[in-house]
Amino acid sequence: MFQHQPRLQDLLELSTYFKSLPETRPKLLLDLVAQAPATDDYNRFLYEFTKIFRPLRIAETGTDRGRSAAHFALGWAGTMVLTIDIDPACSTNVRELGLGQITAVTGDAAEVDLIGPFDVLFIDSLHTQKQARRELDAFRYRMNPGAIAFYDDIHIDSDMEEFWKSVPEPKIDLSELHFSGFGASIIDGAF
Ligand SMILES: C[S@@+](CC[C@H](N)C(=O)[O-])C[C@H]1O[C@@H](n2cnc3c(N)ncnc32)[C@H](O)[C@@H]1O
Repeated sequence: MFQHQPRLQDLLELSTYFKSLPETRPKLLLDLVAQAPATDDYNRFLYEFTKIFRPLRIAETGTDRGRSAAHFALGWAGTMVLTIDIDPACSTNVRELGLGQITAVTGDAAEVDLIGPFDVLFIDSLHTQKQARRELDAFRYRMNPGAIAFYDDIHIDSDMEEFWKSVPEPKIDLSELHFSGFGASIIDGAF
């Protein structure tokens, strides 16, 4: 459930104006993106997205330092983020952020048994066609009607280009958010 249901057109519009909004990200988020400046635009976009549309439950594949999980979580206090990483060290990274809205799970994101439904899925683990496809297939039926999926690195190489081309749902390319590509689609369990 979103407090305000987004359409793909809304995401496209947000991607054109989010940088003109006042910068309201707390220092924690600014410090996290300062360590990886190339992620600043899409992370800020995800923060503004959460702030505006207010999804209740978000699932993320690929935790790493918790940058994107923290951007989702601090966008709106009512959002719960479940983030999965194969590297157990990532749970420690999340704990160190001290954000109670984020739950870190260790395992292969396509195999961990999670209870949905979710409103948002962010696919950001191993950027290969095979893994991204496995994760999309694993989560598809754990999503609420009207759910949104985001995908990082969709143009990083020909393998990920193939993955992006194969996403069957209505989708939009938001690659001005990241040099290696960024996209969004509807991921509706009923699709
Ligand atoms: C690009 S980073 C994630 C970045 C993170 N979303 C952020 O914004 O800080 C990719 C992560 O995916 C993890 N990963 C790789 N293969 C995975 C798999 N099969 N399942 C879950 N996580 C995986 C890696 O350990 C790495 O931490």
